[in-house]
Amino acid sequence: MIIAIDGTAASGKSTTAKIVAEKLGFTYLDTGAMYRCVTLAMINAGIRNTDSELINNLLKDLTIDLVENEGNLQILMNNVDVSNEIRSVEVTENVSAVSALKKVRESLVKIQREIAATTNCVMEGRDIGTVVFPNADFKFFLIADSTVRAHRRQKDLQSMGEEMSIEDLEKDINRRDEYDSTREISPLKKAEDAFEIDTTDLNIDGQVSRIIEIVNK
Ligand code: DC
Repeated sequence: MIIAIDGTAASGKSTTAKIVAEKLGFTYLDTGAMYRCVTLAMINAGIRNTDSELINNLLKDLTIDLVENEGNLQILMNNVDVSNEIRSVEVTENVSAVSALKKVRESLVKIQREIAATTNCVMEGRDIGTVVFPNADFKFFLIADSTVRAHRRQKDLQSMGEEMSIEDLEKDINRRDEYDSTREISPLKKAEDAFEIDTTDLNIDGQVSRIIEIVNK
């Protein structure tokens, strides 16, 4: 069974998807983390977005593993834990452009489909219900007011020792949504048959129970 959770940046997808997966005993797959890994690898290698030959080589040598560790999802890139590094401001600023690249998407979508072929999973991202698994058993699309999302993102950054103003965070969130929704390949959009959940006034428990309620029905 596949439960697809898509939505705008910082709308609560990750935390919600992780808890829903725990409650159902499913595998949780954070596809945004995969795009962030490729972005980090490109930054580390000094590769510019348009350099397609270099990107091909980089993708060939790159391994990404999402490993469950004491209730947390650990992101391993070439066997190194990059769980925090992929959430940095620099990666966040560049990830939309990287995730718009055809080669990158092809490579990651292939891995996502392979993982889901062997396990029940809750997969979270931007194009899961529309492109990766258009036949997913359940599809959800999360949205929230951008100021509320900026506050949530600020909390995440603070827990990693990084500081950014609400104004800048809100600008970044809106810029990313705009970029992700208007790109040519697999743009962010709600699947016609997805349940839309506005998380502006919901806490995590509220978001999780909405989804579990619908799945149980
Ligand atoms: O969910 P997130 O903020 O970690 O995602 C980071 C970026 O990755 C997001 O701006 C768009 C991209 N992304 C994507 O294009 N497709 C996905 N399935 C998941 C994320």
